[in-house]
Amino acid sequence: MTGHPEIPLPGGDVTEGVVRVGDTVRRPTGPHSPLVHAVLQHLEAQGFDGAPRFLGIDEKGREVLTFLEGEVPGRPHPAWLTDPGRLASTARLLRRLDDAMVGFTPSPAMLAAVAPPELPGMPPAPDAPAELIGHMDITPENTVFRGGEAAGLIDFDLAKPATRLDEVTNLCLHWAPLAPQRDRSPALRRADAVVRIRLAADAYGLDDAGRAQFVPTAIRRAERSWHLMRERAETAGSGWRRMWEDGVGDQIRRRVAWLEAEGERITAELLG
Ligand SMILES: Nc1ncnc2c1ncn2[C@@H]1O[C@H](COP(=O)(O)OP(=O)(O)O)[C@@H](O)[C@H]1O
Ligand SMILES: [Mg+2]
Repeated sequence: MTGHPEIPLPGGDVTEGVVRVGDTVRRPTGPHSPLVHAVLQHLEAQGFDGAPRFLGIDEKGREVLTFLEGEVPGRPHPAWLTDPGRLASTARLLRRLDDAMVGFTPSPAMLAAVAPPELPGMPPAPDAPAELIGHMDITPENTVFRGGEAAGLIDFDLAKPATRLDEVTNLCLHWAPLAPQRDRSPALRRADAVVRIRLAADAYGLDDAGRAQFVPTAIRRAERSWHLMRERAETAGSGWRRMWEDGVGDQIRRRVAWLEAEGERITAELLG
């Protein structure tokens, strides 16, 4: 393990100090880390091959993970991000991940550490009970491709209790995406997001009950994230503050407006 240089791994959103050392990745830990480590160990025990292995804590107190070989779409996003096959393949990998997570029961302390604060003015979470511990940060930058197929999901820092619908909504948020054109990366600007939502739901195998709740759930999650992001900008690290200063709050408001405007079309496409 020693003797390898530390190569910075930028391209993520918020975590400072992510480095590659040989065939490992070193990342800072936080209150969420006991849950993440238990999740990765559960996935290993299940034989799920699409996530890094947790190898322990290094001499600097960082988590040590296996480096997954492959191609991770960074920013600016590559043009192939719009390829329907890439999205379908990511949705199928997410389905395999979620299926592997069923039956994993974290300790109450692990869950308490990731429970979102209920902030004044924040609407309640959708009332569907959690079905599993979800990844909940399924961005292109957290997806490893091999031979054009999604082979791995990394960065489990936002893992938390979720429904399958929450997972598909989160995938679509980043990959459809759930945003007006002005807020999309150039690669996805002209994509038909509504058609891509249907594609993602089909490839994942989302049931009709989930499809019927997609739009209200996406709106509610967006409204809650506005409050949560603002609070994180005030209390957490510089990455969160920078995102807020860059206007992520207004972007979330435009997402809600986009979902309200496209809602009927989305639901019709999902259930048609
Ligand atoms: N285990 C891994 N295997 C391969 N690449 C990784 C791994 N972990 C991180 N990376 C690369 O480093 C980037 C940032 O790491 P990530 O864990 O996503 O941190 P952040 O919280 O900043 O998003 C990723 O987008 C990816 O390109
Ligand atoms: Mg990341």
